[in-house]
Amino acid sequence: MGVRKLRLGVFQAVMLLFRELNRGKCKTYLVACPRTKRALLIDPLRENISRYIALLAYHQLTLDAVVDTHTHADHPTAGFQLCDLVDARLIMHRRAPAPAVSQHVEDGDDIAVGDARIRVLHTPGHTPDSISLHVEDRVFTGDVLLIQGTGRADFAGGDAGQQYDAITDKLFALPDETLVFPAHDYRGNISSTIGQEKRTNPRIAGRTRQQYIDLMASINFPMPENIQEVLQPNQSAIEDDRTKFPDLAELNRVRQLSAQEVRAMCGEADAPLLIDVREPNEYRGELGHIAGSVLIPLRELAARAGELEPHRGRRIVAVCRSGVRSTTAAAILYGLGFERVYNLRDGMVDWNDRKLPVER
Ligand SMILES: [Fe+2]
Repeated sequence: MGVRKLRLGVFQAVMLLFRELNRGKCKTYLVACPRTKRALLIDPLRENISRYIALLAYHQLTLDAVVDTHTHADHPTAGFQLCDLVDARLIMHRRAPAPAVSQHVEDGDDIAVGDARIRVLHTPGHTPDSISLHVEDRVFTGDVLLIQGTGRADFAGGDAGQQYDAITDKLFALPDETLVFPAHDYRGNISSTIGQEKRTNPRIAGRTRQQYIDLMASINFPMPENIQEVLQPNQSAIEDDRTKFPDLAELNRVRQLSAQEVRAMCGEADAPLLIDVREPNEYRGELGHIAGSVLIPLRELAARAGELEPHRGRRIVAVCRSGVRSTTAAAILYGLGFERVYNLRDGMVDWNDRKLPVER
């Protein structure tokens, strides 16, 4: 099974350059156009930023973009720092919670890398923002489809049913000979093929959707230690020492409200205070903000909590892009003794999808 190209490999059509860069369980892929020398990195690790920059320089490649296939829970992403250092674009799915994403993509979008076109497939299930990238003869499957396995569906908005649909409807619809390169492999594999996984993947092959959901629910995955310490900086692009992130129990206490519920509350006599915890450019950006919401970016929330003292008895609803940073914000406010705090579930992405009014 698989190809073993340990040196800079090439693949068909526009003869793209290709390489896996970490040589570990966690995979980072380089895809580059040899004519234009434009490059793309998929899922780079923060600990390896120097290696990536050196390698790009050695091969005289210009980094156009970084794609994170999803918000990672197991390693700090290099995306924020690396894109800032070399002026590359950070590309993630529209449902990705983090600020500082320069291009949001959706199912069916194409990402240009020199002469190559990389097709985005929205493949949620491991996380709501999971994408796979299909280019030429191969597909990068993130943590949705692994070699002889599948990614966990039990945290960070995971959903086993969605994962089954993504794998069977989208990934298994690719030609059988398509090479599969996942974001992780724990057994020393380098690649597989769609046909191989269709036939022999022990989690999926021969299982109905319900059987797959039951199987995933029956596996008692241990919760990784310190998961929130990795996840929340990746969700918020905050890495300073002033922000003390809540733990999982504190996050789980936050009461979640739908867009319709928040909309209805805003029309009541004792309307809640809406706090928008995104960055200023997002507040005024394409998704807009809810009329009357007060902008306090998450990174400033603890320091500026004094501004909220006059509203201590009032209901407070935290708002962000996808409802993830605002859950952190609501948990921080609980910790500071604000008891009537809620979160707008799925954030301004969902608010916009429901065509509710926004200001810009
Ligand atoms: Fe993951």
